[in-house]
Amino acid sequence: MRVSKSLFAIALGAAIAATSYAQAEDKIVVGFSQIGAESEWRTANTNDVKAAAERAGVELKFSDAQQKQENQIRAIRSFISQKVDVIGFVPIVETGWDNVLRQAKQANIPVVVMDRDLKVSDESLYVAKIGTDQVEEGRKAFRWIDDYITKNNIKPRNGGDTINIVILEGTVGASAAVGRSKGFNEALAASPNKDKYKILASQTGDFTRQKGQEVMESFLKNYRDDIDVLFSQNDDMALGAIQAIEAAGLKPSKDIVIVGADAVKGMFQAMIDGKANATIECNPLQGDLFFETCKKILAGESVPKSVYVEEGVFDTTNAAEAFPTRKY
Ligand code: AHR
Repeated sequence: MRVSKSLFAIALGAAIAATSYAQAEDKIVVGFSQIGAESEWRTANTNDVKAAAERAGVELKFSDAQQKQENQIRAIRSFISQKVDVIGFVPIVETGWDNVLRQAKQANIPVVVMDRDLKVSDESLYVAKIGTDQVEEGRKAFRWIDDYITKNNIKPRNGGDTINIVILEGTVGASAAVGRSKGFNEALAASPNKDKYKILASQTGDFTRQKGQEVMESFLKNYRDDIDVLFSQNDDMALGAIQAIEAAGLKPSKDIVIVGADAVKGMFQAMIDGKANATIECNPLQGDLFFETCKKILAGESVPKSVYVEEGVFDTTNAAEAFPTRKY
C-alpha cells in the first residue's frame, strides 16, 4: 500500500541519489512482469524471484506475459492502477517502453528493471537495473571458441581454409540476443586469428529448445559437412541443436564444437555426457538483489543505476566438479 508521495530519482553517474518514493504501510507490494517460460533459465529466474520475495517479506504480484510485449505493457498499466509500491519487469525487447514507463513515473511508482537491458529516451524512466552483462557474455563465447580451436589445433572439417561457425540467436530485439551478437562479433574482430573464422549462418531460435532444434536442422540441411562450431545464444537452443546434430549422424562436441550460454543444469549434463563443450554463465539468481534494491529505493537510499551479477565460464574441464553445487 502506498501512503506517501515524494518524487524523483536522479541519475548521477553510476549511482542514483533517491528521495523517498513511498513508505509501505505494512508489507511492500511489488508488481513484477516476467516474459514467460521460454527456457530452463527463465524458469530458474521466476522461481528465484518468487522465493526471494518471500525471503524479503514482500507481497509479489506476478504476471506472466507469455512472450508478448503488449501483455507486459498491459501488466505494468494494471500495476499502476493497483498503486503497487514498486514495479519490476524483464523487458522482452529493448525498445517500446517509453509511454508506459512515463505513466509509471507520473504515478510516482519507481521501476526496477531485471535481467535484460532496455533503450529509453529518458534514463529517469526507470530507477535501477539488475542484470547481466550480455555483451561480455558474447565476448566470452568467442574467446572460449578461439582459445579452444587454437589450443587443440582444430582444422576445418571440409578441408577448407576457414573454421565455419553457425549461430543460434535469441529472441529478435532482445538485449540478450543483441548484446551477445555484439560481443561475439567484437571479440572476433579483435582476435589475431580473425581470418581463420567464417560465420556461415546466423538465425533466431527464439531462445527455445524446439526452435533451436528446427533451425539447426535447416543449418545442417544446407551445410552438414561444413559446420565446425555452433554458438547458441542460450543452452536450451543448444540442447535442441544437439538432437538435430545427432539425427544428422554427427557427433556433437566432436564433429561440431558446441558453446551455449546460461550454464543451466541441462547443459552441464550435456557436457558431462560429452555432447557439449562449454557454456557461458548468465546468472538468473537476481531476486535477492532486486528486492534489496526495491527496499532501498522506498527508503530513499541511493542505489546504483545498473548492477551486473557475477558469472563464470564452464566447460568439460570443470563441469563435473561444479555440477553438484549448481543451483539452477
Ligand atoms: O535474458 C536472459 C536470456 O533469456 C537467457 O539466456 C535465456 O535462456 C532466456 O530465455
